[in-house]
Amino acid sequence: MTSFHFLKVALRDYRVGALTVSSKYAVGKVLSQLKPEYRTVVEYGAGNGAITKKLLEKLPEDGELFAIEINRELLGELKKIRDPRLKVVEGDVSRISEDFSLFGAKRAQAVISGIPFSFFGRERRERIILNTYRHLVPGGRFIVYQYSLLVYPLLKKIFGFCPVYFEPRNLPPYFIMAAEKCEDGSEALRARTLTLK
Ligand SMILES: C[S@@+](CC[C@H](N)C(=O)[O-])C[C@H]1O[C@@H](n2cnc3c(N)ncnc32)[C@H](O)[C@@H]1O
Repeated sequence: MTSFHFLKVALRDYRVGALTVSSKYAVGKVLSQLKPEYRTVVEYGAGNGAITKKLLEKLPEDGELFAIEINRELLGELKKIRDPRLKVVEGDVSRISEDFSLFGAKRAQAVISGIPFSFFGRERRERIILNTYRHLVPGGRFIVYQYSLLVYPLLKKIFGFCPVYFEPRNLPPYFIMAAEKCEDGSEALRARTLTLK
């Protein structure tokens, strides 16, 4: 898919939330947050596969990648990627993140997300982040790339640990947040959700 074609898709569907695909620099920085031992990875908002394709190059042979996308045209592009480790899932992350077994995953070691959180209300953002936290194994990461730091306070509150990186070589520049679930996941979450408004 050319950049011009992606732009046309984005102009037809506001949910795409970007006019260009992620740059190679942004893709590299997002993927550098994956630990080599990760085998089960979920991608929210895979688009036309800019991250998906590079991620497959890094993923171990026995790994699996579930790429979730809501836009039909972009789904068509993802389905052109031939790799037995890739499962392309059509749907809305808001619903699908409630139960990963709906698309055949158990728990994930990493979730990478480019969905435009700024388009969602606070309650929806919070639900997606909490559900993602629950589906990650201890030591797993929720890697979120966005144009703003809007979800950073929520990620920090739910995960406790969330370093932030900046990639200026993207249009517009990205913030990359790598929230990590600590080893005592359930206890930590219980303590933190008590204080969530
Ligand atoms: C910023 S683009 C990122 C595309 C691609 N991953 C990249 O890095 O170039 C966000 C993607 O999320 C998808 N998306 C937006 N809302 C979604 C939702 N609720 N569920 C699933 N995908 C969604 C859009 O269609 C779009 O492809």
